Amino acid sequence: MIDFRDPAFLDDPYPTLAEVREATPIFPVEDPKGRGATLWFLTRYDDVYRALRDRRLGRIKGSTPTPEELGIPSDRPDLAPYFEVEQWSLLMLEPPEHTRLRRLVAGAFTPKRIEGLRPAITGHADRFLDEVVGAGPFDLLTQYAQPYSVHVIAELLGVPTDDWRSLLDWSHAIVKMYELDRTEEQVRAAVQASREFTEWCRELIADRRARPRDDLVTDLVTAETEDGRLTDDEIVSTIILLLNAGHEATVNTLGNGVTALMEHRDQWRALVEGRVDARTAVEELIRFDPPLQLFERWVREEGVVYGGREIPVGDKLAMLFGSANRDPRHFPHPDRFDVARGDSSHITFGGGIHYCLGAPLARLELDVALSRLVARAPGLDLVEPPRRNPTFVIHGYEAVRVVA
Ligand code: HEM
Repeated sequence: MIDFRDPAFLDDPYPTLAEVREATPIFPVEDPKGRGATLWFLTRYDDVYRALRDRRLGRIKGSTPTPEELGIPSDRPDLAPYFEVEQWSLLMLEPPEHTRLRRLVAGAFTPKRIEGLRPAITGHADRFLDEVVGAGPFDLLTQYAQPYSVHVIAELLGVPTDDWRSLLDWSHAIVKMYELDRTEEQVRAAVQASREFTEWCRELIADRRARPRDDLVTDLVTAETEDGRLTDDEIVSTIILLLNAGHEATVNTLGNGVTALMEHRDQWRALVEGRVDARTAVEELIRFDPPLQLFERWVREEGVVYGGREIPVGDKLAMLFGSANRDPRHFPHPDRFDVARGDSSHITFGGGIHYCLGAPLARLELDVALSRLVARAPGLDLVEPPRRNPTFVIHGYEAVRVVA
C-alpha cells in the first residue's frame, strides 16, 4: 500500500499516510529484511498507543536478541562487531534483562543531573549561534543542531568533546542499519563504525575505572544494585546507545521543526512576539514531523488482535508514528501546525517499558535550542527549500540552509 522507497513519499509522507490511515487501520507487507515474517503496519493512534504497551509483543522474541532479530543473516559472521554493539542495547532487550539494565542506567540518568545541565546547554547553544548569526547563510543542521546536540550528550556522559566528529560519523553509519533496506556498502560502514566505536568506549571505561569522575560513564562503571553490576559489554552498548539516541533524533526534530516554523511564518512570529513560549511549541514540533517514523514489535503470544485481524505468532507489528501523530481521531485538525496546541500526548517518544529514557533531556535541549534561536535570530528564514534524506525510519533533512 506504500512504496517506502518512493522519493515523493519520503519527501512528504503525510498525504499518503492519511490516505492509508483512512482506508485501513492495518495492512501487511513482506518483511523487507528477509526474516521470513510479515510486517503488519498500524496506521491509527489508538492501535499504536496500545501496541507500545502490549506485553504480548516484544522488541525481540526472548529476553536477549538473536542475530536474526537484528536483521543479521546467519551467513554473515563478519557482522559480529555490529551485533556486539546492539546485543546489549536497552532498545533491543526485554525483561528480565531489560528491567535490570534499565534500572541501572536510569539510576545514572537522574532528573537532577538533567536539569543541572541547563546553564551548560544554554552556553553551548549561544556559542554555536555566535559563529553563524549575522555571518550569511548557514546550515542549521551541521552548524547548529549537530554540534550543539553532540556536545550536550557528550557533556552528560562526560566524554571528550574533541572527538565529536568521530562520534557523529560512527553514529550516522550505525543507524543506517535500522532502515527497512540498506546497501552492502552501508552494512560494511556500520560494521567498521561499530568496531572503532567499541574500541573508543573500552578506552574510556578503563580510564574512568582508573580515574573516577562525576559523570555518567563513571556512574555506569560503578553502578551496582541487588541485581548486580553492568558488564563491560553492557557498558559499551549503553554508551553507544546514549550517544546515538542522544543526538540523531534531537537534531532531526530541530531540523524538521524549524523548517515547519519557516514554512508557517505566523507560527514563528507567535514565538518571536512571545505569544507562545518555546517549551509549549516544542511539543508541536515533536508531534507534527517526528524524526523516527517506525518501530517494530514481534508477536509472541496467540490471540493478538489489531484492526480486527488476529496476527500470527512470529509476525511483526510495525507502528507508524508519523501516521498516529496525524490521526484526526485523536488530534483535532492534525495537519494544522499549531505551536500553541500544547498537546504532549503524541507518540513520538514511544510508550511502555521502552519509553524514551532521554525524553526529559530531549525536551530541555529542544526548549533551549529553540528559545536561543528565537532570541538571537528573530528574522531567520530559509535560503532554499531543504532536501529530505532518502530514508524513512530516520526522518530528517540533508541540510536546512537558513540565514539569520
Ligand atoms: C527528540 C528526540 C528523541 C526522540 C524522538 C526519541 C524517541 C525514542 C523512542 C520512540 C524510543 C522508544 C523505542 C521503542 O519503543 O522501541 C526511545 C528510546 C530510547 N531513547 Fe530516545 N528519543 C529522543 C531523544 C533521546 C535522547 C536525548 C536520549 C539520551 C540521552 C535518548 C535515549 C533513549 C534510550 C536510552 C532509549 C531506550 C529505552 C529503552 O529501551 O528502555 N533518546 N527514544
